[in-house]
Amino acid sequence: MYVEKFLERIPSLLNKTYVVTGANSGLGFALSTLLVSKGARVIMANRNPKRSEDAINKIRELYPTASVMVLPFDQSKKDSIEAFVNSLISHNIKPEGFVLNAGIYSPAKDAKTEDGVALTFGINYLGNFIFTQTLANHGLISAETRLIYISSPAYSRKFSPQILARAISGQKITRPKQYAVAKTAQKIFVLGLMTKSPLIPFDNKGKIYLYHPGIAVSNIARFKWKFFNKIVHRFMSVFFHPPEKAVLGALVALTTDKDLNGKILVPRGFLEINGIPHIKKIDEKLLSHLPYLITETLKLI
Ligand SMILES: NC(=O)c1ccc[n+]([C@@H]2O[C@H](COP(=O)([O-])OP(=O)(O)OC[C@H]3O[C@@H](n4cnc5c(N)ncnc54)[C@H](OP(=O)(O)O)[C@@H]3O)[C@@H](O)[C@H]2O)c1
Repeated sequence: MYVEKFLERIPSLLNKTYVVTGANSGLGFALSTLLVSKGARVIMANRNPKRSEDAINKIRELYPTASVMVLPFDQSKKDSIEAFVNSLISHNIKPEGFVLNAGIYSPAKDAKTEDGVALTFGINYLGNFIFTQTLANHGLISAETRLIYISSPAYSRKFSPQILARAISGQKITRPKQYAVAKTAQKIFVLGLMTKSPLIPFDNKGKIYLYHPGIAVSNIARFKWKFFNKIVHRFMSVFFHPPEKAVLGALVALTTDKDLNGKILVPRGFLEINGIPHIKKIDEKLLSHLPYLITETLKLI
């Protein structure tokens, strides 16, 4: 009911196309469903064909005429990101917006990308950087294109070159800290995009939004033991908000007329879980980390 009321305030998205990364589960799936409900065409950028097929079937059960398709996309792999962007171009698709949602929280301890970067950093930050750069270099970002980055309440207060090096290597750092450092690096990068920093090494024209969903029920906590996953999921369902409520901020970011440069959309309420997004300022001091973040990033790609 609450979500339905909120959706009445969102304009029709008929004839608009949006890419949502990591759309077969959790927030990405919920957002794709809401976008379809407003008439948009959705391109899911997913890495798992079976889960993608299930996700599309679920959406079509609700909206039989839904315009939704999947294109393969693995945010941990440069080649896959490049192939995804090329397939948008070959399908002649120039989306109005991209929602950079794909992310992980706790992969296997020593999991790495093909290039040897710790997987949490490789997906949650580096993949965002490479995807944005690839879109820009292929001319898919105009001044009207919206890019929405899914942030997190997780935050590294002690961000520094040393902590960054640990998150990149995955050495001497816990998994929750790796996640917090990767999401902080993402925030610094996004602030660099918003402020049109000359340090960003590509032409950076789009409208940039940062949004965090609070804590939402999803599949983000994935442990080895299925039974444990179920318990975590039950616990989250009691205390945190459902994904369709948690993604309302992304819908706002895709449709608002406001300029939200230097700001982040965050759900209101205790523990930031009551869905309705409000606007907070991003700490500009974070920009002091941009020079070494970009230097280290360019060494990795
Ligand atoms: N849930 C929360 O409380 C919360 C809070 C703050 C921020 N977030 C952020 O919200 C975003 C979505 O997470 P979620 O909570 O909805 O979790 P989720 O249910 O696990 O969804 C994550 C999605 O990302 C995809 N993904 C993971 N690695 C990928 C890769 N290398 N390439 C392409 N797709 C990949 C997953 O695909 P597979 O199914 O193939 O793994 C899945 O579709 C993440 O960026 C997360 O950091 C979540």
